[in-house]
Amino acid sequence: MQVKIVYASMTGNDEDMAEILEEDLQDAGFEVDSSDVSFTDASDYLNADICVFVTYTYGEGKMTDELEDFYDQLKSLDLTGKRFLVMGSGDKTYKDHYCENVFDFEKVFLACGAEEVVKPLTVENAPDDDDIAKIDEIADELAEKFNG
Ligand SMILES: Cc1cc2nc3c(=O)[nH]c(=O)nc-3n(C[C@H](O)[C@H](O)[C@H](O)COP(=O)(O)O)c2cc1C
Repeated sequence: MQVKIVYASMTGNDEDMAEILEEDLQDAGFEVDSSDVSFTDASDYLNADICVFVTYTYGEGKMTDELEDFYDQLKSLDLTGKRFLVMGSGDKTYKDHYCENVFDFEKVFLACGAEEVVKPLTVENAPDDDDIAKIDEIADELAEKFNG
């Protein structure tokens, strides 16, 4: 099974999350391709069985240009038959905007017809041991469902 992970990260927290998931899924036997959102076209998801998006939120819910470009590409795709999950890092001091872009992308994947396999995982700033354990659990769940 092919997994495509796309991540948006400025200070490395989301990149770390993407890397942890990538390693877990590779260990479980998935074929995983991972790339930075700025160097990725959303149509790359068309070659995957499971689409993963890992994102920061900056600017109180407003998207950065790189996120908005990717969002615009994504929203015109038909992802019927694909599975997806989203996750990301934010900061709770931003209250109602905590990890808002994670949920923006959850909505757009659903609008594209993809099926959500795991609920969004939100992490405060850098992933700690508990967060890493949650990412490991997500990989286990995917392995059980699709590669077991
Ligand atoms: C200027 C600025 C604005 C931010 N706005 C938000 C926000 O609206 N919501 C949120 O959850 N986190 C917000 N954050 C926190 C970042 O999303 C958080 O630090 C995240 O871990 C960064 O991920 P990265 O290391 O992958 O870039 C903001 C941080 C900065 C510096």
